[in-house]
Amino acid sequence: MTRAVIDRAVAASKNPDKIAEMESILVEAGVVGEVVRGLDWPEVIEDAPTLEGNALLKARQVAEATGLAAIADDTGLEVDALDGAPGVHTARFSGPDAAYESNVAALLAALEGVRERAARFRTVVVAVLPDGREVEAAGVLAGRITVRPRGSGGFGYDPVFEVGGRTLAEMDIEEKNRISHRARAIRALAGALLREG
Ligand code: IMP
Repeated sequence: MTRAVIDRAVAASKNPDKIAEMESILVEAGVVGEVVRGLDWPEVIEDAPTLEGNALLKARQVAEATGLAAIADDTGLEVDALDGAPGVHTARFSGPDAAYESNVAALLAALEGVRERAARFRTVVVAVLPDGREVEAAGVLAGRITVRPRGSGGFGYDPVFEVGGRTLAEMDIEEKNRISHRARAIRALAGALLREG
């Protein structure tokens, strides 16, 4: 087996759903040998105006706090009928105390009666290495928003995001990880890190 580009790294997230996805994609893509778990760091305030800015904030602060390479992602859902919203505000679409269910409900309410339901997930990933290098990549998954939630897998907006007739929540995790915005971004990151040498 080929050696991973980074021996040990931290997934700069406190969301266990996201860490699990990032870990399997990072290891599979040969980016990281071992994703170190169980470390802690101060809450990162994600107040940048872009996905790129927020991913960079998280990766920099977690690399600094842990002394390890840190890989952060930030994801936005861009809905055509909402002029690209919620975008960078996707996590708080239903307000400051947003949860998965309330966000999904707010999205379905915003699209009530709307026929044009095309949307995309966009993920930006940033790796900050112990030598200070910063490497960035992005991945996109195009789909459409369903009229009601379907499926029990995944997390977040997965039950209402449909690709090829099934929602991401109707796919098993291996299938989601083959096609997802996050997987594409992490594979692109692997390519960028390899080019960096
Ligand atoms: P963040 O990247 O953790 O800030 O996520 C932004 C928002 O998008 C949160 O509401 C997440 O639940 C949601 N989200 C992120 N990745 C996914 C995904 O792969 N599927 C569905 N929802 C996601």
